[in-house]
Amino acid sequence: KQVLIFFFRVLELVFVRIIHYWLHPNFVWRLSNYSKQLKQLSNQLQIFVQNIVTEKKSQYRDHKNDLFFSEAKTRKCFIDHLIQMSEDDNWHDQELLEEAQTMVVAGSESLGSVKSFTLIMLGMHPLIQDKVYEEIYDIFGNSDRTVTADDLTEMTYLEMVIKETLRLFPVTPVVGRRVNQNIVTDRYTLPEGSECIISILYLHRHPKIWTKPLEFNPNRFLPEEVSKRHPYSYLPFSGGPRNCIGFKYAMMAIKTVISTIILRYRISTDFKSVSEIEFSPGVVSKAKKGYLIKLKSRC
Ligand code: HEM
Repeated sequence: KQVLIFFFRVLELVFVRIIHYWLHPNFVWRLSNYSKQLKQLSNQLQIFVQNIVTEKKSQYRDHKNDLFFSEAKTRKCFIDHLIQMSEDDNWHDQELLEEAQTMVVAGSESLGSVKSFTLIMLGMHPLIQDKVYEEIYDIFGNSDRTVTADDLTEMTYLEMVIKETLRLFPVTPVVGRRVNQNIVTDRYTLPEGSECIISILYLHRHPKIWTKPLEFNPNRFLPEEVSKRHPYSYLPFSGGPRNCIGFKYAMMAIKTVISTIILRYRISTDFKSVSEIEFSPGVVSKAKKGYLIKLKSRC
């Protein structure tokens, strides 16, 4: 729990720097109290990740020649791949640690936020919730076994629900790019060398692309509907060469958690409409008033 508080505060401090332009120059930032706080938290985070990496590394060295590590490549998790690459290519420990840290930070708050928004959407839309429940019940029945990779591929309606949640609540609401050559549109020219911010939130709620944009409608993600839209009209994981590298894992993690909850509990919430849910500004969007939901056991 304490680690989650670290992440939260780290992202808050990063956001403070982004929005206060006078904190952008390094020499000003280093003099600020925020910078000292960020340094302290980063050190604690580093210790947390270091412990995981050390443990995994010793497991890797002990089992390097076992079938699991040498042949069954598909069964390796991300950190095992990183460790193997670092051993084969002689990476410095610090490089390995930084890679692992990036993944932990990039993957924690974002996932938590999407799962929470998805639960609110299910609570607000009982008929959609019933449909998700039926899909999950068809897969698991009354069994309380854990979710497998095959199960995840069968959760097609839940996937549409998550995609629609990410449309209305893209947890990374904006991304930035430096323009490396003049870009001419029908009305404007973005000059080479300038920096631009792309608002994913604005794009995802644009009435020219989405009819009744504030209506929660997972059917927008039926294959025949998707094929009618420009591929870049929906960018929860951004696009191009620097898009999110964790998007497949993200979808798997969210499906695993939501399916486990919905199989056991009926969700409700007092939120009545999408427009009621305000964002609190930050690197990762969150609901300003929190994610109040009620869970009622299905047993
Ligand atoms: C639903 C959850 C997630 C969402 C919505 C999301 C979204 C994004 C977005 C919009 C970007 C920005 C890319 C850009 O600047 O164009 C990004 C970058 C990134 N994401 Fe995610 N992400 C999620 C989960 C994850 C997870 C679980 C991981 C890792 C396990 C991850 C790892 C990364 C990394 C490493 C980058 C930087 C990529 C680069 O700069 O090349 N993300 N993500």
